[in-house]
This record gives sequence, C-alpha cells and structure tokens, in this order.
Amino acid sequence: MTAMSTNTDPGPDRPISSYGRRRGRPLRAGRAALLTQVLPLLAIKAPPSGTALEPRSLFAVAPRAVWLEVGFGAGEHLAAQAEAYPDIGLIGAEPYINGIAGLLARIQEAGLANIRLWSDDIRLLLPALPAASISRVFVLFPDPWPKARHHKRRLITPAFLNELARIMAPGAELRFATDDPGYLEWTLERLAGHSAFTALTTCPDEWAVRPADWPATRYEAKGLAGHPPAFLRFRRRAEGP
Ligand SMILES: C[S@@+](CC[C@H](N)C(=O)[O-])C[C@H]1O[C@@H](n2cnc3c(N)ncnc32)[C@H](O)[C@@H]1O
Repeated sequence: MTAMSTNTDPGPDRPISSYGRRRGRPLRAGRAALLTQVLPLLAIKAPPSGTALEPRSLFAVAPRAVWLEVGFGAGEHLAAQAEAYPDIGLIGAEPYINGIAGLLARIQEAGLANIRLWSDDIRLLLPALPAASISRVFVLFPDPWPKARHHKRRLITPAFLNELARIMAPGAELRFATDDPGYLEWTLERLAGHSAFTALTTCPDEWAVRPADWPATRYEAKGLAGHPPAFLRFRRRAEGP
C-alpha cells in the first residue's frame, strides 16, 4: 500500500473549490492517531501526471468491481456499503480531515478491508482512472450552499459529468442526493442533457424514496435545509461518448 497524497498546493490547474473547510474542531488524540497511523495505509497516492491508476490494484484482494463515493462526509454510507458488499472495492474521496478520521474509526471498529481513500478533491484523481473502470458512483448531498453566488462551486458540471461518463462502465449506476430544490433542478437538467446517462428515477414519486440498499447519511439525518431529499439514480448507457 502506498503513502498518503498531500495535494494541498492549490496550483494553477486546481478547479474552483466545491467543498468547504478541510478541518473542523481539534481532533481527540485517538482520532489524530488514526490519521497518522492508519490513513497512510489506506490512502491513494497521487499517480504521476499522465499515468493510469487501475483501481482494482489498490486492494489486497482484487474486488469484483470498484465503486466510488465522492464527498463521503463522516463516511457512514461508505462504511455501510463496504460492510454490505465485502467483494466490492470502495474508493472514498473527501478533503475534510475530521470526516476522514470519523471514517477511519468506523473502518477499524468493523474491520473493513475494502476501502481506499483519496483525501483531496476528487477532480484531481478522476483523470488517472481508466475508462470504464468504476461500476457505481455516489454523490450524496454534495453542496450545502443554496445561494446563487455559490453556484459556480457546484460539483455537477458538464466537465465533471464527462469525466464520470468516461470512468463509468456501461450499465454503471450514478446515485445523487440533494435536499436543495434548486440543486435538484440543476442536476436533472444537466443529466438529461448528457447523452451518456439515462434516468432510472423519472418523477418525484420515484426519487422521494431512498432504496433499501442506500443507507442514510449524516447530512440527510440532520435535515438541515428543511426540504425533503431527492434520491436520483442514473444509468451509464452502453453507447455514448
Ligand atoms: C454537505 S457534505 C455531505 C457529506 C455526506 N455525503 C453526507 O451526506 O453526510 C458535502 C461533502 O462533500 C465534500 N466535497 C465537496 N466537493 C468535493 C470534491 N470536489 N471532492 C471530494 N469531496 C468533496 C465536502 O468536503 C463535504 O464533506
């Protein structure tokens, strides 16, 4: 297993930040120790520019398939999926250090061996992933900023969707959740306008219900925005760019 990436230099090619703070409250000693001792064992090292990173090779035992969660927060959904599907390899991306520490605690408690971590902006890892190498993608409550001046920070953009379409295998599923009606409309428009995706949830009755194999996240449980969440699912078409 390779050492942790430290992609903290903003650099000229870094995309506009789509996330908030990297650190919250000071960590208790046990959580801080997880970051120094366990994270380096699970962290994905940034590959040299132009080099492909075969995601199945990140795991000690090659998994049946690899899934990706973008912005896992405190990691309760990612850990639950890893526990439910031990033959799947899960990559979690999250720059928020306190969230990473929370997930590491869950990984240790449950003895999970099928999670690898990217502790930075997912958009810096996507170019290294080979075409059709990911079988499921989760983007759950990605952005808590409803104000118009923050829309430029939204993760769901044509460029991001193009990268997802490239790395997702034909038939792979994209799961997206939001409790912001504006972000729901924004996402539906952009996915409907993308030729690589077809909607599996096509009306409010369908996206109001969280499927049984989709555990709740902390953000959903907090119900911060006061709007009912939408749980969208899309299929990566076999044809398309
Ligand atoms: C509102 S929180 C939701 C967290 C979690 N998905 C949940 O539902 O509880 C959004 C998370 O997405 C992360 N995030 C935003 N943009 C990201 C990006 N480009 N790459 C990786 N994580 C990102 C943020 O750091 C933040 O922790």
